[in-house]
This record gives sequence, C-alpha cells and structure tokens, in this order.
Amino acid sequence: MTAKTNLTINPQRLWDALMETAQYGGTPKGGIKRLTVSDEDKKVRDWFKAECEKLGCTVVVDEVGNMFATRPGKRKDLLPIAMGSHLDTQPTGGKFDGVLGVLGALEAMRTLVDMGYETNAPVMIVNWTNEEGSRFAPAMLCSGVYAGVFTTDFAYGREDRNGIKLGDELARIGYKGTVKAGDVKFQAMFELHIEQGPILEAEDKMIGVVTGVQGMRWYEVTLRGQESHTGATPMGLRKNALLGAARMIEAIHQVGMAHLPGVASVGLIENRPNSRNVVPGEVFFTVDLRHPDEKMLDRMEAEYKAALPKIAAALGLELEEKRIWNSPAVKFADPLIDCVREGARIAGHATREMASGAGHDAAYIARVVPTTMIFVPCLGGISHNEAESTTLEECGAGAQVLLNAVLAYDRGLA
Ligand code: GLV
Ligand code: MN
Ligand code: MN
Repeated sequence: MTAKTNLTINPQRLWDALMETAQYGGTPKGGIKRLTVSDEDKKVRDWFKAECEKLGCTVVVDEVGNMFATRPGKRKDLLPIAMGSHLDTQPTGGKFDGVLGVLGALEAMRTLVDMGYETNAPVMIVNWTNEEGSRFAPAMLCSGVYAGVFTTDFAYGREDRNGIKLGDELARIGYKGTVKAGDVKFQAMFELHIEQGPILEAEDKMIGVVTGVQGMRWYEVTLRGQESHTGATPMGLRKNALLGAARMIEAIHQVGMAHLPGVASVGLIENRPNSRNVVPGEVFFTVDLRHPDEKMLDRMEAEYKAALPKIAAALGLELEEKRIWNSPAVKFADPLIDCVREGARIAGHATREMASGAGHDAAYIARVVPTTMIFVPCLGGISHNEAESTTLEECGAGAQVLLNAVLAYDRGLA
C-alpha cells in the first residue's frame, strides 16, 4: 500500500477555470456551443495554451491540432504520463463533457507546480481535436489519427454540412501544427470525464472506474423520392422521402429495443426542400448503433440493413446507405485501472466499475498506449444537453482521483 500524498487539488480553482472557459461559445441556456476548430474553439485553445505556458509547460501542436502540454520529470529516459480529453462541444453541449478532462488535468498540473512536486516521468495534458464528431464526422477523429486509425489526409478532408474542410479550418484558426500526428509520445493516458449516464448518481457513488467502451458504428442514409405539389398529388401517387425516413426511424428504434442494452439512434435529419406544400423529395439522416458486445452489434447492423430496402421499396424510394465509422468495443489497461482504484481509495471515494456508453478519445488511444478513464456523476445522467450539470465537489473529486492515479502510476516507475 502506498502512502497518502499531500498533493491536494483546489476544487474552487478548477470550477473557476470551467466557468471562465464556458464563456467561449457560452449559450443563453447555460451550455456551450463550441464546435470543433471554430472561432470559439480557437479562443479556448489560446486560453489553454497560455495557462499551460504560465506553469512552465512546453506546448506542442501536431498537424491535426492535437495539443500536448508537458512538464518535465526527474528522469529524461521516461516518456510522459498523459491526462487528456477534448475542449470541443456539441451544438447544444454542456459545460463538462470533455472540458472537465482537460481542465481537471490542468488543475492536477497546477497542483504539482504549486507544491514543487517532481514526478519521475514527465506529465502531459492533451487536448484532442474533434472528439465530438458533430461538425465533422466521425467522432474521436484526431485521437484516431494519433492512433493510426485514420490518415492525416482523411482528417483534413472531412467536411462539415456546409462543405468546409477540417484541414482548412485548422489552418484558418492557426492550429495546423507541423509535428506529425503520433510523434508526440507518451507511455500511458488517463481521461477524466463525466459519466453522461445515470448509474453513479443512482447508486450514490462518486467515482466510476471505467473498464472499457462499447462498440459504435455510424451510418449515413439518403432517400430520394419525388418533389410534387401537396395539394395536387393524390396520396397513392406520392414518392415521399420523409415518410420513408419516418418509417426507418421507427424501425431503427426497434432494433435498439430488441437488443438491449444496445442502443440505436437517428440524431441528424435534413429534409428537402423542406417546404410546407411540397411532398419531400429527398431526405438525409444519420444512424448511430452501439452495443458492448461486437457480436450483438453485428446482429443489430444486419437487422438495420435488412429493414431499410423493404421500407424504401414499398414507397418507391431510391435508397443510398453506407457505414461511415466503426469503433470496436475497447477494454482498458488493467495496471492503469488499478491506479484509478488506488487513487479513489486514497481520496476516500466510493467507486463503481462500469463500461462507457459514450465514445471517448481514450478508446482510440487504448490501441497504442495503455489507457483508462475516470468518471464522475452528472445530474440525472443528462449530457449532450445545455443543462448538463456536475457539482464543484464532483469535479474536484474527479481531478483529485486523476492526480492520485497519475501519481500512483508514477510511483510504480521509481
Ligand atoms: C461522442 O461523444 C460519442 O459518444 O458520440
Ligand atoms: Mn466527451
Ligand atoms: Mn460528447
């Protein structure tokens, strides 16, 4: 058993950082709209870089905008221990998804600096570009480039719904670095995050010890029918693309219901021409299927794929469907999970082992470096919502366990 350290983070300072940066893209309803590589994203990146440099950290930006802030350790032969997450948000995002993982890491770093504590290995904070995948699909894009899942050119070529490319936006905001993605090495990564689900709150546990991430697959569907006059086209002679989408959305919902705890969702839909007296001629929508068990996810995919052509044929619609992303289920590294358990024990917090329902940068980083995650509760399990809410105490507990886990890992290197 290792001794308790006196390295205590400052929860109020962490909270102040969360509230200060929440202004970059802050919404009237108290959330954040900070789409990846937007002007608001540039502002929070500039803030983060300046704060890390004040701590004496060296900040490096790689070619896809991932930011790495490093404080040296006692030993030059050791790679850094990383703590990381993302500063981008959903269009109606909350103040904590991703941000807590980066600013919690900053708070841990500030604590190390304040105490003049020298770790064996260097310690690093990472801000991964485009975790959300909301503006540019898919999610976890640039941690994916780091891990070799996607090429840099693939990332640069991702287009938002206005046809703007990620690579061009990175250059525009000044965060297209020159260092090759994957060249900034570290030996382990811990990601602190809100749970985004209801379990910790329901069971009154402060810390989620995360053992893995469920499998996720994304698809895009386009339905083409025929635009025609709503008043003059008899019901039996329509090729209504929106009606097809409605039936498909119901069928996709049923795929989720039939494979619990799997989940199946349609989150984005574009109806064309979207005019009240035109039978819709074209609809685009996205599909998100997830399950902790890859075999069950295969089954969900098969059922989903079988349902669509039948619906399209019955309505005389042309169907275009493709899978655009497949992120297999992930199991995190046991030695790091042990450090999280130890970190929570030292801090005196009750824990619950759990898998993550949401995707995280940690899922891709786990392919190349030992990785794990720490969860804290969020009110009602609500996330991807401006009302997302986590208390000062919970944020502080998460940052403390993050620091404790990093220190436990670092002690193991001595
Ligand atoms: C990313 O946050 C996802 O789970 O879709
Ligand atoms: Mn997140
Ligand atoms: Mn998210």
